[in-house]
Parts: sequence; structure tokens; C-alpha cells
Amino acid sequence: MGKDVIIACDFDSAEKVFAFLDKFTGKKPFVKIGMELYYAEGPQIVREIKKRGHKIFLDLKLHDIPNTVKKSMAVLSRLDVDMTNLHAAGTVRMMEAAIEGLTRPDGTRPMLIAVTQLTSTDQESMENDLLIKEQMPEVVMHYASCAKKAGLDGVVCSPLEAEKVHDRCGKDFVTVTPGVRFADGDIGDQKRVMTPAEAKRIGSDYIVVGRPITAAADPVAAYERCVAEFVG
Ligand code: C5P
Repeated sequence: MGKDVIIACDFDSAEKVFAFLDKFTGKKPFVKIGMELYYAEGPQIVREIKKRGHKIFLDLKLHDIPNTVKKSMAVLSRLDVDMTNLHAAGTVRMMEAAIEGLTRPDGTRPMLIAVTQLTSTDQESMENDLLIKEQMPEVVMHYASCAKKAGLDGVVCSPLEAEKVHDRCGKDFVTVTPGVRFADGDIGDQKRVMTPAEAKRIGSDYIVVGRPITAAADPVAAYERCVAEFVG
């Protein structure tokens, strides 16, 4: 599987995302479309970006009863996205249903990855609000194992967890890691960060990079720097 840099296109309108993508003359970066843009513009934004030749990670984090997730995944699969995701907390049965829904009549399907515990959830809120008493690293690894058992391709995780996920689930189990910053860049609101070069060294398969590229004075140069450091 190819290592790649995925740009988090966290914009709230089609106009803004196209103004951004227009800067990449001749290049077609892999892009992540999240809830904000998808809910603002609907599925048409996916079709339009796909038509421009980009690979798309549709980050909608599905979590519902298995039947609903299965049918929704079938709709997303027809949008011809390359990667999408769900919450592992929905159970192995929900994840299996998702794979069924996502699989096209010809047997192909987009990559499917799981969110384990959101990085915004800490040990305290997990224990008090979710009543999960195990330690966070164990919970994350358990959810990753459940995702593998259900037949998913990988997980979204902190770059710091990527190595452990590979140890537990195998090196072909994909790790998609946000929280990437240049050594000389702003950390912003991210807490635990890694440079693209470090993410490569610890074995991340895909890095998801937002503001270090989208807010850069020269986004194309920032993207190229990411690719040079991460893909080499
Ligand atoms: O701008 P920045 O590089 O921080 O963007 C990172 C992207 O990855 C955002 O779209 C953010 O929502 C997403 N993400 C994250 N941490 C997670 C899961 C997703 O930063 N644990």
C-alpha cells in the first residue's frame, strides 16, 4: 500500500476548497473531506473533487445500528470515495455490516478505517462519562483489534500509537495519523505531534495534515515539503 500525505480540507464552502485546490496546478493531492464541508455542500462536493482527479478520504465517522450503517456505507461507496471511516465503538457487528454495505457488486470497495477513542477523550472522561475503566492505551489497542477482526483495513490513531497498532494488528493494518507538524511550525491546538519525517520513521501509512498546509503562506510548497519528508 502506498504511503501518502492526505490534506485535511477543513473549509466550510465549496468556493473556499476550490480556491485552495486551484493552487495545485498539475498536482492532485489526496484530500480529506470532513463533516463541516460535507454538511455544508452535500455529496456534490465529493463528486466534483473526485472529477478533478483527487483521491478522497471521506471522514464522516459513522456510528449507528448495523443496518443503518450498512445502507449508508452503500451510498458512500457509490460516491466512489477512496477511504472512509466509522467509530469502532459501534461494535464488531456494526463494522462487519459497514464492510458489507461498502462492497460494490464487482467486489471492490473503498478502504475502511476505524476511529478508536477520539483524542479529545481523556482517561477521566472515558471513565466518568463512558464508564470504561481500562487504561486508554489498552482501550485503543482493543478497538484496533476489533476493527481488524471485523475485516477493516486500519485505524485512525496518533502517530505515537502507530507502532503499537502495527505490533498488535500486523504491519499491513493501515495507520492513518493526524497531529503532524513541521519541526519549525506552529503546534496550534494539537497536543502530541510528530514531524512528517518522524511519522515515516515510526511506520505511519498515511499522514493527515491540515493547517500546516492549508494555512501556509505557500500551501503547495508546504505540501511538497510534507511529501518529501514523509514519502521521500
Ligand atoms: O489542522 P490539523 O493538521 O491539526 O488537522 C488535522 C485533521 O485531522 C483535522 O481534520 C482533524 O479534525 C483531524 N483529526 C485530528 N485528531 C484526531 C482525529 C482527526 O486532528 N484524533
